[in-house]
Amino acid sequence: MLMSGKKTARAHSNIALVKYWGKNQELLNTPAVGSISLTLDNLFTTTSVEFDHALPSDIILFDGSPAPAKVSKRLSAFLDLIRQKANSTLSARVETVNNFPTAAGLASSASGFAALALASVSASGLELSEIELSLLARRGSGSAARSIYGGYSEMNAGQNPDGSDSYAVQLYPESYWDLHMLIAILSEDEKPVGSTEGMNRTRQTSPYYSAWIESSQQDLDDMRDALKRQDFQKVGEITEQSCLKMHSVAMSAHPGIIYWHPETLKIIQLVKQLRKDGIEAYFTIDAGPQVKVLCRAADATTIEKSLSDEPAVSRVISCSAGPGAHLIE
Ligand code: PMV
Repeated sequence: MLMSGKKTARAHSNIALVKYWGKNQELLNTPAVGSISLTLDNLFTTTSVEFDHALPSDIILFDGSPAPAKVSKRLSAFLDLIRQKANSTLSARVETVNNFPTAAGLASSASGFAALALASVSASGLELSEIELSLLARRGSGSAARSIYGGYSEMNAGQNPDGSDSYAVQLYPESYWDLHMLIAILSEDEKPVGSTEGMNRTRQTSPYYSAWIESSQQDLDDMRDALKRQDFQKVGEITEQSCLKMHSVAMSAHPGIIYWHPETLKIIQLVKQLRKDGIEAYFTIDAGPQVKVLCRAADATTIEKSLSDEPAVSRVISCSAGPGAHLIE
């Protein structure tokens, strides 16, 4: 194995406009549906990795403290994939820091595994293409495959049994369009049901699962077309519809999975009211209560103020399109 010393990578979180929910193969972490996302500039993870002969086992620091056992296990299992590729048994020292609350539906696993993929590949001396990095990041978290790229990206569900066509590609770079996403934080608690557990339960028990899978192809085609035409209204409408379908299928699992809080609905109503008042804004929600509001740059300040004025909103993180995963000094 060709060691390259300590390497530090930064990857930005992404929020899906057309959502992924459901896995084809859990072991390979291949998604059952494709997805389209926007990478965000102000939410990111910075991760350093160094493989070291002197370490008896991996040491993983998360936001400055030893990572909880569950997190360490997941990250070490991911490092095993790198060790396998590099034909090595060396343990690693990993330090990872998020600039936002972890596991609260802000896609920390997306930025986290994309940063870990790039840092650990570089530290091991391997050289991988963006597609190879995306394939690798997917093994950590499905949405991480999209965070390899800046701007707008699309994840292919893929069909190959070995997962080799299950990766993301960039549709447009961050400079393509001046869209904004405002994240209204309602609660910084960890989500009650992790996305893997939620997806498995949905596949196994929801009577609507096949309708969700079948209808997602049209959403992807329509979103690609709307992005190409820079048709903001259409992009917003598909974004909301995909979000509502994802949450409906999760709620219809048994036991039902409800990520929303009462305040989540309040913010949905606020977004609808903004539209009635002539301000174009559209919501989306992931596996947590936070509401993300998609808007044009020109409306971002007005919408941010409306969101901040809501007592339920503890803070608003304002983002525009962000860059892909990159190494930093
Ligand atoms: O990457 P995962 O396995 O945490 O799944 C993320 C799923 C959603 O965020 C809810 C939707 C998506 O496409 O990002």
